[in-house]
Amino acid sequence: MLEVCIDGKETLAEKDEFVLALAKREAILIPTLCHHKAIAGLGSCRLCIVEVDEGRGPKVVVSCVYPLKEPCTIFTKSEKIIRLRRGIISMLRDRAPQDPYLQQLCTEYSVPQSTRYVLPPQLKCVLCGRCAAACAALGNGAITTVGRGTAKKVSTPYDSASADCIGCGACAQVCPVHAITCTETRDTRSLWNKTFRLVPCEKCGVPFTTQEALDLVREKTLPGTHANLGLCPDCRKKEVLLTTRRL
Ligand code: FES
Repeated sequence: MLEVCIDGKETLAEKDEFVLALAKREAILIPTLCHHKAIAGLGSCRLCIVEVDEGRGPKVVVSCVYPLKEPCTIFTKSEKIIRLRRGIISMLRDRAPQDPYLQQLCTEYSVPQSTRYVLPPQLKCVLCGRCAAACAALGNGAITTVGRGTAKKVSTPYDSASADCIGCGACAQVCPVHAITCTETRDTRSLWNKTFRLVPCEKCGVPFTTQEALDLVREKTLPGTHANLGLCPDCRKKEVLLTTRRL
């Protein structure tokens, strides 16, 4: 264990524990955007920066991807961090000016109105990379960052319907600023210029996922784990509960 002082509070941290995880455990709030518990190691938005002093003077690190290696002192709200974070919030807000979370951070950190060129409101993406990472982990890696400068965005190759997209919708679910349009009717789901037919739950009959997503899970996982695959999340939970009771 490592002796750590975070915002004046003495505590112990596991070796290699991320600063953000330690702060959460100590109920110290550090704002995040790209961090997601199911997608490790993005570190792209920089909102979660803190100062860490490991005996050689404080340095600015990205707390969600900075593993603790030695005893240290951490400052999550130093003057420098507040100043830098204000600039980061301002840049993110300029990319997604309508986003309520970023607006809230602007108020909290007294970020002034932008004097820079503000991107058109339909470009809500902050380019954090969460969607592409989720797609790579859960799908086929159908989306990626394309273009440069202000034209940079996340999309499928040539913005066309991609054979790799399985319509799982994970990209839209993890997007922190709701920039990905995923529309559903009772039986269909449309995203990335492609429309999928939804498969009904084997138990309750409510359409819940795409055949392509089910096929990929079957392909990527062991046959012994496929028992409840055709069930919607609600029915799957009930089934797991019943099985646990029977044991
Ligand atoms: S939350 Fe840590 S870099 Fe985005």
